Formats: sequence, C-alpha cells, structure tokens
Amino acid sequence: VSLKPLNTFGLEAKAEVFVEVESVETLQEVLQLEIAHNNKLFILGGGSNVLLSKNFDGLVIKNSIKGKEVIQETDDFVLVKVGAGENWHNFVLYALSNNWGGVENLSLIPGTVGAAPMQNIGAYGVEIKEVFEHLQAVNINSGKIEKFNKEACRFGYRESIFKNIVKGQYIITHVTLKLTKKDHQLNTSYGAISETLEEMEVQYPTIQNISDAVIKIRQSKLPDPTQIGNAGSFFKNPSIDQVQYEELKTAYPGIPGYALPDNKVKVPAGWLIEQCGWKGVTRGAIGVHKKQALVLVNYGGGKGDDLRSLAEEIRDSVIKKFGIKLHAEVNII
Ligand code: EPU
Repeated sequence: VSLKPLNTFGLEAKAEVFVEVESVETLQEVLQLEIAHNNKLFILGGGSNVLLSKNFDGLVIKNSIKGKEVIQETDDFVLVKVGAGENWHNFVLYALSNNWGGVENLSLIPGTVGAAPMQNIGAYGVEIKEVFEHLQAVNINSGKIEKFNKEACRFGYRESIFKNIVKGQYIITHVTLKLTKKDHQLNTSYGAISETLEEMEVQYPTIQNISDAVIKIRQSKLPDPTQIGNAGSFFKNPSIDQVQYEELKTAYPGIPGYALPDNKVKVPAGWLIEQCGWKGVTRGAIGVHKKQALVLVNYGGGKGDDLRSLAEEIRDSVIKKFGIKLHAEVNII
C-alpha cells in the first residue's frame, strides 16, 4: 500500500501491510497479529510530522478512531473526550463553534488529536498541556487500555513520555481536554498575534478573533501541505547556555533569544538556518521554504532520503557556524 496520500510531505513509501482502525476493539484485535510486534509496527495519525525515508517493512496502522463526547460539564468548563483519529483543526473549529476556549491559539495545526499530546503541540504562546486533562491509550504488548493524566505524560517542549521513555509502547486512542465556557484566558503574548489583531482592528478580542489571527499568521508563512508537501518545523528550537548565547551575541548582534529558566536561552532554529544561507534554497523537487527556513518542502516527486540528507547538511552547517546542534522535530522513519 502506498503511504503517499497519508503523509503531508507527500513522499512515496510503501507499507508491507496496512490497516485502518476505527475502534478500540479493532485496534486490540489487530495488535494480536504477530506482525504487530518485533519492532515492525508504525502508527500513523495525520502523517503531518513524519519523514518517510524508505518503504516500511512491517505493519502500518492508521488510527481513525473518531468521536467527540462531553464527559463532564459545569457552568465554567467542559471536559471533552475526543477520538485520536479526529482532525485537530476540525476539533478546534468545533470548540470555537461551541464557544469553548483554550485551543484557539492552536488553530490550523495539521495532524490528528491523538498525535497532539505525543509531542505536546504548541504555537503562539500555548501548548496542548495547558488544556490537557488525561488520555487513554492501548498498551501494545498487553492490549490493555491505560489512562495517563497530565503528570504521567511528562510534557515538555515538543516532548512527552510517548516520545521518549515509553516510545513505541502505546497507541493513544482518546484525548480528554478541559475547555472554558466563559471567562476565557486569552493568550495574546506572542508579538505576531497582537500585531495581527491590531491590523484586524480588534480591540477586545474573542477566542474566534484569536483563531482568525493565528490562521492569518500561519497562512502568511507556513506552506499549506495540500499545496506544497511539508511537515511544519523540521527541527526543534534549540536551547543553549546563557554564556554561549552571550558569546554568540558578540559575534552576531542580531541573534534572537528567549530566556528560559536555569540560565538557558532558546534560539529560533529558523534564524540560524537562514543565516547559513538556506532560506529558499531548492534542490530539484525539494528545498527549504522561501518564507520560513525551519520548514523543509517537497514541491512534488521528491525523495524522503534526499530530504533526510538535506536536513543533515543543514544541521552540519549550523554546527559549523554557530556550534549549535539542531535536533529533528519531525519523526524520521
Ligand atoms: N526566523 C528567521 N528566519 C526564518 C524563520 C524564523 O529569522 O526563516 C526567526 C525570526 O526572528 C522569528 C523567529 O525566528 O521572529 C521565530 O519564528 P516563528 O515565529 O516563525 O516561529 P518558530 O520558532 O520558527 C515555532 C514553532 C512552530 C509554531 C511557531 C509559532 C517550533 C519547532 N516551531 O516556530 O510550530 O507555529 O513557533 O508559535 O517550536 C511546528 O512545530 O511544526 C510548528 C510550525
């Protein structure tokens, strides 16, 4: 089976066996197959954060478990349980249509609800962990359903337990979020949001206004995966020691940085990559996006392996120029 339509990079790669599951029961049955074990299993959500560098010699399960259910409600909030296979942005739109607040800054992020906590998706000052209540996942080895609360997920910047300690051991089936019904906590801290709201002449923003602003910003610099193959930011933004940052600042006065706790500074990888001359570079069918150097693109017909080598070259040049090692944000298969 070709996975080309199922990954937003639009890369050609074949799965030896492919199953799409729509219920927890079917998933549990599929997990009893021998091919589901011995490291021959790959779970696909929206395919928006993967680089398929070659054919997959094993079983690919597409998680299409759907559903949205309010499991608790008060005057102030709702707890909504969402199937992992629901499209994330459609869920955001659904929340907005109910005037539920908390996910508006996360508008237009590609991918599924189930993939969102895996890497603690974040954008424009908000991360999913802020509205996260708990999730339900199937243990691949035992086939049993387990529940993880916020603490158990160990969320960090683009990190959770599912990407490190228990990587490859669970399949997320449902995610429960806590959203506000009134007195929404608006987050307009990100410069681009307040500027865009001003452009939109919005003085007292609603959650809908914030979503509209985020959509506008994203559309202005991030390529639409239905038009140009991409997986969003390819690398994470690195954090470096304050001392190293100060040294770099002497050599490169324009270097942006955001102070973090523990004398660390987060530096935008997009800036580092642009400084190395990569922005807008094309290599046949692949390249670095013209408006955002952190995004690698496949204009059509590109090869996953070539994207992987391009990423390596970018990483090497950033180490050489700045002494900073970039780590992939995208899951390279
Ligand atoms: N910059 C450049 N050149 C570039 C790109 C960025 O100089 O080509 C500099 C600019 O100084 C800019 C700064 O980098 O002010 C930050 O850029 P931007 O606001 O575009 O955000 P980012 O740090 O590149 C992160 C997330 C995005 C998220 C945005 C907004 C990561 C790895 N990426 O990108 O998430 O949408 O912030 O919050 O943290 C994703 O994970 O796929 C993703 C798109």
